[in-house]
Formats: sequence, structure tokens, C-alpha cells
Amino acid sequence: MRRKLVVGNWKMYGRLARNQALLQGVLDGVRELRAADYAVCVPYPYLSQAATMLAGSNVAWGAQNLSPQEEGAFTGAVAPGMLVDFGCSYVIIGHSERRGLFHESNEIAAAKFEAAQKAGMKPIFCVGETLAERESGITEQVVATQLDAVLVRFGAKALSNAVIAYEPVWAIGTGKTASPDQAQAVHAFIRQRVAAHDAAVAQGLCILYGGSVKASNAVELFGMPDIDGGLIGGASLVADDFVAICRAAQ
Ligand code: G3P
Repeated sequence: MRRKLVVGNWKMYGRLARNQALLQGVLDGVRELRAADYAVCVPYPYLSQAATMLAGSNVAWGAQNLSPQEEGAFTGAVAPGMLVDFGCSYVIIGHSERRGLFHESNEIAAAKFEAAQKAGMKPIFCVGETLAERESGITEQVVATQLDAVLVRFGAKALSNAVIAYEPVWAIGTGKTASPDQAQAVHAFIRQRVAAHDAAVAQGLCILYGGSVKASNAVELFGMPDIDGGLIGGASLVADDFVAICRAAQ
């Protein structure tokens, strides 16, 4: 039986005072929830705030990106070791906003995945198709190529210390959620693809769904056999909404 995981991706939202209230609300809301795992991935400047407020709680924290290099003359970049200094357990890799807006290729995403693991963090590796790709019937092909960037390169064992997030691009921030059946079909595809390399790793692999998850659809989504929780954008910025989604993972 896999343990469910709910992760908030704050994206580029937050301010010190607002974060304080949000983190406190999340802490208070999930304190008694023991049957699943929870985390928030916050913007870099707020890692220290998250670390201070969440230390010792049942809410882990992480970042949304990292540099594949350990250190050097890379103005504006943040090294894996720096995230570890601030207690990050997770780092989101290959989010469609990084792939689309910042032109991150599968190769770059793979290098970041490897760097995160080497530093001791769990990558949350995102895959997902655009609307045009879904409508052309190539969802599985797109997801397979993105997944293979780490599965083939590093082997299935590398996924035993990683999380996969299926985020159909057309469902992100649009209010259009993939139906539980649509999401389940892709999750099952991902698990089978990993199983072809290593059945045990596939069985234990945590595969999150992301894309307009709300309290109202979380129970149904999380009830699907291959959906192990969610990667939550907009709804993770409102404590009550995020907590309600966390409860749905119980
Ligand atoms: O990483 C989470 C994400 O992209 C989904 O965002 O706002 O649709 O929940 P949202």
C-alpha cells in the first residue's frame, strides 16, 4: 500500500506576512493527519521561513528548481547544496512552466534530477502533454519521452527515490481538471512503463496528479488506484483549501 503525498507548489507567489499565516494555517490543519505525507515547495527567498516554521512538524518543504551545477560562476543560479542547507527534502524538476517558459529540455531536466538526488533530495519529476498533443492522440508518446529522460538514462532504481507528477499542461491553472479516468489512464501507463524495467520500483513509485486539483475533486482523483496524491498550485495558496485537499488524501 503506497502512502499518499500532497505537495503545494506555491510558484512565484508569497510574501513574508502572507506566508506566515498560510504556513500556520497548514500546520494547524494537518497536525493530526498522520496517514499521508505533506510538503510545500516555496520560492527560494522563503526557504528559511519555511524551515523555521515547519521544522519538527509533519509538513516537509522544498524548492521549485535548482541548478545542476554544484557551484561556480552561474549568476542567479541556486546550487543543490544550498537547498540542502535550508533543509529541503524535495525539489520540483521539469515543471511544464520551466519547460515552456524557460526552455528546459529533457536533457536539462535529467541533469537537474540527477543533481537533486546526488545532493540527497527527492526530485518531483513532472511530465505531461499539451492540449494539442492530447488532441493529436500522442499523450502517451509525449509522457514516455519525458519519463524516459530519467528512466532510461538513470535506470528504474533511480525512481525509487523520486516522485513523478503527471500534470497535463491543459489542466494547469485553467480550472479544467483531467477526469479521474483520464488521469488514471496516464498514471497507469507511467507505472507500467516503469514496471517494464523494475516491477518492485513501479509498485512503490509515488505518482502525483497536478492540474486544477481542488477540495471538490481531490477525493475522487485520489481514490483512483494509480493516483498517489497531488501537486497543488493555486489551491495551495489558501490554507483551508490546501488542508481540505490534504484531508482527501487520508
Ligand atoms: O505544480 C502544480 C500545478 O502546475 C498545478 O497548478 O494551479 O492548476 O493547481 P494548479
